[in-house]
Amino acid sequence: MTQTRPDTLPLVVLISGNGSNLQAFIDRIAAGRLQAEIRAVISNRAQAGGLERARRAGIETAVLPHGEYSNRESYDQALMARIDAFRPGLVVLAGFMRILTPAFVQHYRGRLLNIHPSLLPAYRGLDTHRRVLAAGDAEHGASVHFVSEELDGGPVVLQGRVPVSASDDAESLACKVHQVEHRIYPLAVQWFAQGRLCLGERGVELDGMPLQRPPCYRPSPDSVTLQ
Ligand code: GAR
Repeated sequence: MTQTRPDTLPLVVLISGNGSNLQAFIDRIAAGRLQAEIRAVISNRAQAGGLERARRAGIETAVLPHGEYSNRESYDQALMARIDAFRPGLVVLAGFMRILTPAFVQHYRGRLLNIHPSLLPAYRGLDTHRRVLAAGDAEHGASVHFVSEELDGGPVVLQGRVPVSASDDAESLACKVHQVEHRIYPLAVQWFAQGRLCLGERGVELDGMPLQRPPCYRPSPDSVTLQ
């Protein structure tokens, strides 16, 4: 049986793809900078690259292909049963490209985080980098948020901003956004692990205070600054 230190937050991470955010969690935990333990990585796609990252790190994996279920409700019920078997304190969506049912979201209320590649509430949904370029925005970024029934609409915890330059295309922008994601997502989870972050009656609370607006990270050439 896995031995968990009492101050270590058990996580289940859900992925659909490459898993670079998952890798950021694995690396932070290995470096002793995130007091968490990934009990399992679950994917809806057997070919998700993140599964191999998890296996390399000795983390248990499971694949639950959505095509084997007749509707969203039955898939999400099966997914909940899988997740709950690992008794996570927090469920982390890291590029899990599925719309979740209200039953799923309600079951994990306050212990379900997502990262989205835009400065929410701007650009909910897919294809955010291309849409930012088409709009001619000067800034782009990523948002960590608690998940609510509204798609990409839950309360934001932390954002990271990156400048959009004239030479950027969707690929270079995605790369910049990924870099900032790998900073802010483990940090938000660390806050949760430390008991500093929660979803309370008054919305997102950090250190016991309701967040008026989410803190924001901006990468600089040598460091990342919190504003
Ligand atoms: C990330 O950019 C994340 O923000 C996005 O998927 C990517 C996963 O990358 N999530 C969404 O679009 C959710 N709406 P990764 O597999 O390399 O971590």
